[in-house]
Amino acid sequence: MTLARQHQIQVVAHRGASEDAPEHTLAAYKKAVDDGADALECDVRLTADGHLVCVHDRRVNRTSNGRGAVSALELADLAALDFGSWKRHHNEAEEGEGPDWERSAGADFGAGLGEDTSVLTLERLLELVAERNASGRQVRLAIETKHPTRWAGQVEERLLMLLKRFGLDAPPAEGPSPVRVMSFSARSLHRVRAASPTLPTVYLMQFVSPRHRDGRLPAGVRIAGPALRIVRNHPGYVAKLKRAGHQVHVWTVNEPEDVELCAELGVDAIITNRPKQVLTQLDRL
Ligand code: G3P
Ligand code: CA
Repeated sequence: MTLARQHQIQVVAHRGASEDAPEHTLAAYKKAVDDGADALECDVRLTADGHLVCVHDRRVNRTSNGRGAVSALELADLAALDFGSWKRHHNEAEEGEGPDWERSAGADFGAGLGEDTSVLTLERLLELVAERNASGRQVRLAIETKHPTRWAGQVEERLLMLLKRFGLDAPPAEGPSPVRVMSFSARSLHRVRAASPTLPTVYLMQFVSPRHRDGRLPAGVRIAGPALRIVRNHPGYVAKLKRAGHQVHVWTVNEPEDVELCAELGVDAIITNRPKQVLTQLDRL
């Protein structure tokens, strides 16, 4: 339904609807789907016992009531933590918002360890996407491998195993794929393509290195993922990437003037913490 909108820009919910709900929780992803996001972005890390979980930081300190590196904790340790309450305290402190804001996001983040606010495994997120797609709602998933070099291929191996289980590891070579894999690491993307050549990959860029200045990306990568900063400072770079045959997915775009800039430049996807607001703005442009 959403891609039948007037505009063709994919709106991707960054860590879920992460402005409203605690990032990388089921609550944030459910809200993003309900808000109409075309795709969901998530970061994945390996736990000490080999599970892929959706956590951005190396440590759980910022987004849970626990401490320690994800890589040093087992899934059972993470499952005992609360990944929701911090957001309530954060928003109350930042914006004076409390229960009303929580209700609008469809969850009570202060309530403890419901499934919606406990650690989210990639497997559970894939189930959510499968459930929503089975009900007729088309939603895609953009999965970012975090610190894959540390694990020498294990992150990609585990990821591809899971995708295979869901029948998502080998999309047709042409046409849209329900899943894409993103990384700042060209090596990680290379590993993914070596195992699954038709799975689209997104090369994330914090800055433009000399070897990519002409718009070319690492071999086999279809999609460029420049930081918003690059697009603001070098708007001509989007056209260069497109001339080189790449789609352009920009992160993280939250402010209306930046959404407008991205739309003017003809980017293919906007990755945002505010999917609802961005969709409303794009529909008006
Ligand atoms: O979508 C790409 C973007 O998420 C990369 O930055 O730090 O939010 O993972 P980060
Ligand atoms: Ca990310």
